[in-house]
Parts: sequence; structure tokens; C-alpha cells
Amino acid sequence: MRPDTKYYHYFFAALWLAVAFGVQYLVPEDPLKIVAFVSGYASIGLAIIVFAVCLSPLSRVLRHPFVTSLLANRRYIGLWGCAFAWTHVALAVAHLLGGDLGLIFQPDGFMLLLGLLALTIVTALALTSSDGMVRLLGGQNWKRLHSLVYVAVLLVAVHAFNIGKVVFATDWAKWALVGVVVLVALFKARHQFKFF
Ligand code: HEM
Repeated sequence: MRPDTKYYHYFFAALWLAVAFGVQYLVPEDPLKIVAFVSGYASIGLAIIVFAVCLSPLSRVLRHPFVTSLLANRRYIGLWGCAFAWTHVALAVAHLLGGDLGLIFQPDGFMLLLGLLALTIVTALALTSSDGMVRLLGGQNWKRLHSLVYVAVLLVAVHAFNIGKVVFATDWAKWALVGVVVLVALFKARHQFKFF
């Protein structure tokens, strides 16, 4: 483990706790409180995952030691994104879906199903993020598997745009996510096909 890795763990653990205590003490009423918990972990989890995706394009345009450190710790940043996503799902299933997982497979649970697919992808990526797994799968297969993160971000975007009640009920959040996704896609296309 690199010497700077522990600071990333401290930062994200503090952020996780800040959401827990912030919502607990700042949001007064109960039905609002649970939606704030679910949305807080969901939106920050998505932001962390998108941030991890942006790191490699960012490192090409910004050659700063901090960006190098972020890139070297990308797997841990992704793991924390996954932890926030699992917290969101556990709270949503327990409190908003009344513990009934069957709702995901109902016709009107389609947006939840997209969330479940994204969670499956993100979890598979977290479980295969170690150096040992890179060696076991082989570099090319590992890269192919990990490029599924783009699919996961698109699935979550559709999920959040359709059922988001707090952050993604606002236009700015939708446009910010669309903007980042378009920028990353353009950057990838430029890199892959030497477009412009
Ligand atoms: C990688 C996995 C997932 C991520 C990153 C994610 C992210 C999000 C985001 C960003 C929102 C919008 C929050 C807002 O507008 O404030 C949301 C809403 C929601 N998600 Fe997920 N989601 C995931 C998976 C799931 C799964 C598997 C379920 C349930 C089975 C679920 C249940 C819900 C519910 C009920 C809402 C609406 C409540 C709310 O707005 O907070 N999500 N999710």
C-alpha cells in the first residue's frame, strides 16, 4: 500500500460519517430524514464513481503530483464509491421498499432493476480491483471487465433521472451528470480514434 493511501481512507470514512451525522442532526422530520439518507449516500456514491472514471482523462491534461496520487489510489476511491452505493441500496430496500426485494422484479420496478444491474457491475469491479485479480484475469480481460464501469454509470444515470427525489429531481444535477458523461465520452473517442 502506498503511504498516501491511508489519507484517502480517512477522507472517505469521514465523508461517510459526515453524511450519517449531518442528516441525523440537520434533517428534523422522519420521512424526510430517511429520503435524505438514501439520497445522500446515493448521490455521493455516484459522484465518487464518476470522479474515479474521470481520473485517467484528468491525468492526461493535468500533470500535478496530487492528480498522480489520485490516479494511483483510484481503486480505493472506486471501492469507497461502491461502499456508498451499498449503503444507499441497504437503506432504500429496508426503508423505502419495506424490505420487499420482489418489487424490483415488478413491471413498475424497472428503474430499480437498472440500479440492481449497476450495483452488480460496481461490486464485480470492486471484487476484482486487486493486483492479484489483474494477474489472474490477464491485463486485457481485466481492462475489458473494468470498462463496464461506463455501462454502470449510464444505468445509474437512467435510474436516478427517473426515480431521484432529491438531488436528481433538480435540473442542475441532471445537466452536471450529462455534461461530465459527454466530456469523458469525447475524451475517450478522441483517444481511441484520434478524432481532434
Ligand atoms: C450502483 C448502484 C446504485 C447507485 C449508484 C444508485 C444511485 C442513485 C441515485 C444517484 C439516486 C437519486 C438520488 C436523489 O435524487 O437524490 C437514486 C435513487 C434511488 N435509488 Fe438508487 N442507486 C443504485 C442502486 C439502487 C438499487 C439496487 C436500489 C433498490 C433495489 C435503489 C433504490 C433507489 C430508490 C428507491 C431511489 C429513490 C429514492 C431517492 O431519491 O433517494 N438504487 N439511486
